Amino acid sequence: MSTNQPTTIFTQSWSLYDLITAYNYMFHQEIYEGVQKLLGLRQDVTRYRLMDLGCGNARFMAPCLLKYPPAYYEGVDLSETALAEAKTYLAPLTCPVKLTHNDLLTSIESTQDQWDIIFSGFAVHHLTPEDKTRFFNAVGRSLSKQGWLILVDVVREEHQDRETYLNHYLQFMRETWTKVPPEQLEEACTHVHDHDYPETFSTLQNMAIAAGLHAQRIISRYGQHYTLLFSPVNLPTI
Ligand SMILES: C[S@@+](CC[C@H](N)C(=O)[O-])C[C@H]1O[C@@H](n2cnc3c(N)ncnc32)[C@H](O)[C@@H]1O
Repeated sequence: MSTNQPTTIFTQSWSLYDLITAYNYMFHQEIYEGVQKLLGLRQDVTRYRLMDLGCGNARFMAPCLLKYPPAYYEGVDLSETALAEAKTYLAPLTCPVKLTHNDLLTSIESTQDQWDIIFSGFAVHHLTPEDKTRFFNAVGRSLSKQGWLILVDVVREEHQDRETYLNHYLQFMRETWTKVPPEQLEEACTHVHDHDYPETFSTLQNMAIAAGLHAQRIISRYGQHYTLLFSPVNLPTI
């Protein structure tokens, strides 16, 4: 299978990612429980506007939004397969839902709206360092005054280079993701090897500070899978 683009695996075999998440190999259960709790801390539940960049099929986000409803949700993804599924998972929401087939960086750089929450789950690590900087700058411009960036993503250890990170992560996949059929596991490993460019937390922090997101916090960490919270203003006690 060609892995020319970081999104190829999500456009051609979304079911593989669904399988990985169904076995909770990337800690989606714990992570999205945490995301739900974060949404519950907002003072503007039912009034907040949320943009979900790289929303996939929104399978894990949908229950969070049902529990703490936004006033408006926009999901952005390059995979039409995922977006078609997202429509079904998000159908129970009563707020307006927009699903946009677009590049996440293009979307956030071109939005004219202010967003109370910008969320991205396991997508930003595909961007180059330069594009991650552009991502943070665009988020900084587009967040409302009390806005939050919730970033769920893989993160490198401080002082760990990409090659060492990849060796560890691929070993973790091969040793832990035992219920994924071998051929599909290798497909997933190739995707990670070719397209994953995670940063360290301090690099992400510096990008955020330069973009005016002066408050940053690690909300949770499961192996290399982090939930990070950024804001232009002080964060609540959690
Ligand atoms: C690993 S999935 C994550 C899905 C979901 N957010 C989650 O947390 O499970 C990554 C998603 O990001 C999308 N994606 C990756 N790069 C993208 C880009 N530059 N623009 C839009 N979507 C992108 C992929 O198509 C895929 O649906």
